[in-house]
Amino acid sequence: MTRARLVVGNWKMNPPSVDAAVALARAVAETPPPAHVAVGVAPPSVALVAVSAALRGSPVAVYAQDVHWEDRGAHTGAIAASMLAGHATGTIVGHSEVRREQGDDDARVARKLARAVAGGLRVVLCVGESEAEFLAGETERLIVRQIAVDAAPLQAARERSGALVVAYEPIWAIGTGRPATPTHASNAARVIRRALDGLGLDGAATAVLYGGSVTAASAPEFAAADGIDGALVGGASLAAAEFASIVRAFG
Ligand code: PGA
Repeated sequence: MTRARLVVGNWKMNPPSVDAAVALARAVAETPPPAHVAVGVAPPSVALVAVSAALRGSPVAVYAQDVHWEDRGAHTGAIAASMLAGHATGTIVGHSEVRREQGDDDARVARKLARAVAGGLRVVLCVGESEAEFLAGETERLIVRQIAVDAAPLQAARERSGALVVAYEPIWAIGTGRPATPTHASNAARVIRRALDGLGLDGAATAVLYGGSVTAASAPEFAAADGIDGALVGGASLAAAEFASIVRAFG
């Protein structure tokens, strides 16, 4: 089965200004991706509209970093999936930093995913174990639980299940300079697809990305790893030249 490849730069709370975000987006757009590799960037929400305007006509897609689980109302600081129409093709949900800092549990991630998919967005759902869970050999159990709850809304919206991309991001590998081994990532991808199958979804058709300290140096190993279709890149996506090498590695 050939699945589309995808590399998304998760800029997190960077770069330091909207102007810098637009400049970075333009720099990313300067290097066209290889055929069959889709590229996206996820700027901070304050820069999303400006980045989207700067990338119009380029092959680089815009992703939000998160959306709210409701579509309107008294939710200070949040953005609704429907507000992204015309500005973003997708959104990340369930990133471990959002789970940790904003208290997202799996039930809430599921509601966010449901909202995003209903709004016609592509969803990059992040799952992955903590260091303690990794050391306790609980990676598989944790991933199965996350997928079972987080992706459950797609059971009632199977026609939209092509919108789902899963990013396997072991928390201990994020921002640490210590990526997982490609073998560990491949095993996780297998578990993710089996868990999707368990929900009646099509695991084999679902793209699985690896995220966690991906750099230009480590990208080729992940590009060659069985079942890994791309990367979710944090720190190394903030330098356009390095990000371009990572994208090229998946070509
Ligand atoms: P990192 O972040 O590449 O800086 O480790 C990845 C992520 O959190 O998506």
